[in-house]
Amino acid sequence: MSRCADPISPELVRRTLVDRLFNGTSPFSNFPPPHAARLLRRTTKIKGWGSNGAVFENLIMRVKPRVIVEVGTFLGASAIHMAELTQRLGLSTQILCIDDFRGWAGFIDRFSKIPMVNGDVLLYYQFLMNVVNFNKTGSVLPVPFSSGSALMKLCEWGVYADLVEIDAGHDFFSAWSDINRGYRILRPGGIIFGHDYFTAADNRGVRRAVDLFAKVNGLKIKIDGQHWVVGKEGLFEGKSTTRSLKRADSGDEGLEQRGLDLQGHSDAQVNKVYEREEE
Ligand SMILES: C[S@@+](CC[C@H](N)C(=O)[O-])C[C@H]1O[C@@H](n2cnc3c(N)ncnc32)[C@H](O)[C@@H]1O
Repeated sequence: MSRCADPISPELVRRTLVDRLFNGTSPFSNFPPPHAARLLRRTTKIKGWGSNGAVFENLIMRVKPRVIVEVGTFLGASAIHMAELTQRLGLSTQILCIDDFRGWAGFIDRFSKIPMVNGDVLLYYQFLMNVVNFNKTGSVLPVPFSSGSALMKLCEWGVYADLVEIDAGHDFFSAWSDINRGYRILRPGGIIFGHDYFTAADNRGVRRAVDLFAKVNGLKIKIDGQHWVVGKEGLFEGKSTTRSLKRADSGDEGLEQRGLDLQGHSDAQVNKVYEREEE
């Protein structure tokens, strides 16, 4: 498809997706099903990675989004955090969570408490349970499919976002594909951002993908904590509190030595090479 469909109104986004993805019935309806109910945990401590970083508040305050698309949700830590922020600001925002809810091969080593039935890990159900627990079922909606197919469908159905967060596969090809597809459904003036710009995971695939994407499209990259941030069409042309990365192809040392002037973060915090860590 050469271009996405014309945008549908933000008010229609949830209904459209419930109809198209779930045959008109909310995934939260009659949840949890009896076979899963006793296996799921009711907890207010949700594991995530940088899921409460200042970047979320900074961007939500700035953009006041009606629709957010998160690519990579896991147990919902960052999605629920964004739902709390938007609620606090009095916004009626829909947060669409694209995730196949399979995790990744071997992830169960570190997340043995997520139940499994016949080799089927109940990540999706545990995510739904977390959303229910935090009372966010009206603003958070799962899109439980692979990122590629889900983003293509949003484009085809005219579902656009004011904020797109990329945090799914961290190898170069996954990140590259998610960023490019996510950017297509970004409204003018919107922001695409993502985690793990500094991580060593997957051979720094995220950073290589972000840098190449910015270079090819003539866009500037901003850094906020562990996150990269790119605005659509000249968003950062004016006065800005953060300085852009000038050389997209520099290695870690260059980045660390430059002492970036980052929103609310000391150089010492930022100059640390971030590794993925469980919160
Ligand atoms: C790092 S976790 C997301 C963490 C979450 N943003 C948070 O802060 O708590 C990555 C997620 O991406 C999902 N994922 C990875 N590759 C995917 C793909 N190709 N399509 C859909 N989901 C994918 C995994 O299932 C996993 O839940």
